Amino acid sequence: MDCYSKSTCCFLFVLLLISQFLLPTDSTITLSTDDQLQFFVLMNNTLSGTSMSDWDINGGKPLCNFSGVACDGEGFVVQLDISGRSLSGRFPANICSYLPELRVLRLGGNSVRGGFPDSITNCSLLEELSMPRLYLTGRLPDFSPMKSLRILDLSYNLFVGKFPMSVFNLTNLEVINFNENGNFNLWKMPRTYQG
Ligand SMILES: *[C@@H]1O[C@H](CO)[C@@H](O)[C@H](O)[C@H]1NC(C)=O
Ligand SMILES: *[C@@H]1O[C@H](CO)[C@@H](O)[C@H](O)[C@H]1NC(C)=O
Ligand SMILES: *[C@@H]1O[C@H](CO)[C@@H](O)[C@H](O)[C@H]1NC(C)=O
Ligand SMILES: *[C@@H]1O[C@H](CO)[C@@H](O)[C@H](O)[C@H]1NC(C)=O
Repeated sequence: MDCYSKSTCCFLFVLLLISQFLLPTDSTITLSTDDQLQFFVLMNNTLSGTSMSDWDINGGKPLCNFSGVACDGEGFVVQLDISGRSLSGRFPANICSYLPELRVLRLGGNSVRGGFPDSITNCSLLEELSMPRLYLTGRLPDFSPMKSLRILDLSYNLFVGKFPMSVFNLTNLEVINFNENGNFNLWKMPRTYQG
């Protein structure tokens, strides 16, 4: 440390001591805006495509300035929109462990293959989940934990199995779109439900 005078050093040392007591020591409440970058590193590792390159994952450009990202006033990511970027690969799990304030997630129109990423159901604050044209397969999870959901677009996928009745537990839901999921027994359900 470069000190201009002994008293400055002493002052800084005292400040450091005080801050030790002020900072939360419980690991469950230390999630900071910095931890959010980890999710972008995960996406960088599991997805590929040229449009990822404008995300300056090594630092420099702030995360909130990445294209497709919007933050709240405290620097928490509230919106992630990577739709239509020709990305391919897998979408990492547990997004809301890294982006705890996420409200809007748009992933449509990429080559993200596999099943529905069930861990997204842990995003209890998520208001819009838009995942059209991903051609995901398999069964859908229980959506009941997604209490804030207003818009759910899962059109143009290849889901199978029963229609997820759990969506009727979501009291904030306004728009639901399951169009063009050939293997759902859609004649039982309205193709688009607006409630
Ligand atoms: C992001 O991905 C590119 C291409 O795979 C890789 O070269 C780079 O090291 C990755 N950056 C980080 C921070 O993981
Ligand atoms: C990030 O965005 C803010 C607001 O648009 C802008 O003021 C700032 O200059 C940007 N920073 C960088 C490094 O691009
Ligand atoms: C939701 O989060 C909890 C706690 O991190 C975890 O144990 C659980 O597996 C997650 N649920 C899903 C469906 O991933
Ligand atoms: C709706 O929520 C209740 C209580 O959480 C649960 O018991 C029930 O199974 C849910 N219904 C569906 C269709 O998931």
